[in-house]
Amino acid sequence: MPKRSSFRNRFSFYLLAIGSACGLGNLWRFPYIVGENGGGAFLLLYVFLALTVGMTLLIAELMLGHFTGVSVLAASRKVSIQSKKPIAAFGWLSVIISAVTLAYYSVICGWVLHYLTQFIMSLFQSDSSAYLSHMSVTMLQQNGWLQFMLASVHLLISVVIIVKGLGDGVERWITSLLPVFGLLVVVLLIGSLSLDSTPDVLRFLFYPDFSKLNWNSLGHAVGHVFFTLSLGFGTMVTFGSYFRKDEEHLPTLGLRVTLIDTLISIVAVLLIFPIAFSTTKQPLTDPSLLFEVLPRFLSTYKGGVIFGLTFFLCLWLAALNASLGLLETITANLVEKRPHLKRSVAASISGLAILFVTVFPAFSGSLFKSFKLRGHGLIEIFDSFLINGLLPIAGLGMVIIVTLGLTENDRKELFLHEKSITSQTMYPHWRSALKWVVPAVIVLGLLLQVLGLFFA
Ligand code: PHE
Repeated sequence: MPKRSSFRNRFSFYLLAIGSACGLGNLWRFPYIVGENGGGAFLLLYVFLALTVGMTLLIAELMLGHFTGVSVLAASRKVSIQSKKPIAAFGWLSVIISAVTLAYYSVICGWVLHYLTQFIMSLFQSDSSAYLSHMSVTMLQQNGWLQFMLASVHLLISVVIIVKGLGDGVERWITSLLPVFGLLVVVLLIGSLSLDSTPDVLRFLFYPDFSKLNWNSLGHAVGHVFFTLSLGFGTMVTFGSYFRKDEEHLPTLGLRVTLIDTLISIVAVLLIFPIAFSTTKQPLTDPSLLFEVLPRFLSTYKGGVIFGLTFFLCLWLAALNASLGLLETITANLVEKRPHLKRSVAASISGLAILFVTVFPAFSGSLFKSFKLRGHGLIEIFDSFLINGLLPIAGLGMVIIVTLGLTENDRKELFLHEKSITSQTMYPHWRSALKWVVPAVIVLGLLLQVLGLFFA
């Protein structure tokens, strides 16, 4: 077995899994898809799916990694040979999705970097509020070269960290900043909940109006659950392979990571929507939401610039942490596939390949502006096709690998904990959920989206 980066063994799995799960998906993507899908009913559907479908699959992926001790490509091949079932190809889908997602994710991380630099620059302006109030995502989206450059800087930093094997130090460092980030979020939350728009927001978020759900809602909820919990990418399989059973109980880890991630997403909507409602009188429903409302809101406050600067710095570091998880997964798979390659070479090759894909989302608002499908630009198509379409299919692949590739005894042994009676009670429920509920929900979500194309 190829040598893996040894820091992983000592590093707490919680921080690894939570660091990968919590990123732009929670603070940037979740609020706007809740807005897009009409609020309360979607939020309820999402929380339900995260705690059922998401948690079930998270445990399964960690299990596959821990059982095989390798990443998803080698893991799917290994169990395919053992079980004599043709399930090895599913691993490939996950790795391809990881690479394309990292390209797309890097562009959004580039947006965060741009805002961070704008906050820094505003410190040197005579009227920083006026300077900040002119920032616009639309202008950024139309500047392909700037987006490409920012995404390249982000990718380069990620590659250097992986190549230099600094992952351990960087992750520890970022994690130690998390309390600061948490504090900023709480202060922002108090500020935003004390706005006049809060009653309207609470009604929008917590009075479910099921008539607002549409053909796409189930698919969007499933896709986002997978994206935010880093499922279907093989990331959790890689992390599971670093996992030591004597250190932690797998299902407990899955439960806690799901709960924390879901909680952060709920805090994110509570934070963003009052500000969005008070400035635009309606929930924004597109990717610019976080970037449009937050800087404007902060620019009206004394000390808002320093606050915004620290907030975007923490947001970028959290996103960097999540990007490292993706790049680590791709690199680990490549090293296992080509054992003669050094980790540094594998990480550099992966980085270069991803940089090439980055061209498409980065230039979607400029060079590829005329490329439209049903009125949607390339970046929206990227997001939708990848996260609402391909990712659930990759998740289905994981279900197939774990249900067909592992035996009942293997799964049971990995799930049960000798001291926990709850684990014995929960096992049959988890197994049925994995075998029936998860595939049924994924297929239904995909089917409804396809039907929506004809009937909506
Ligand atoms: N879960 C991360 C987020 O919500 C995205 C991610 C996906 C990170 C897959 C790593 C692997 O931002």
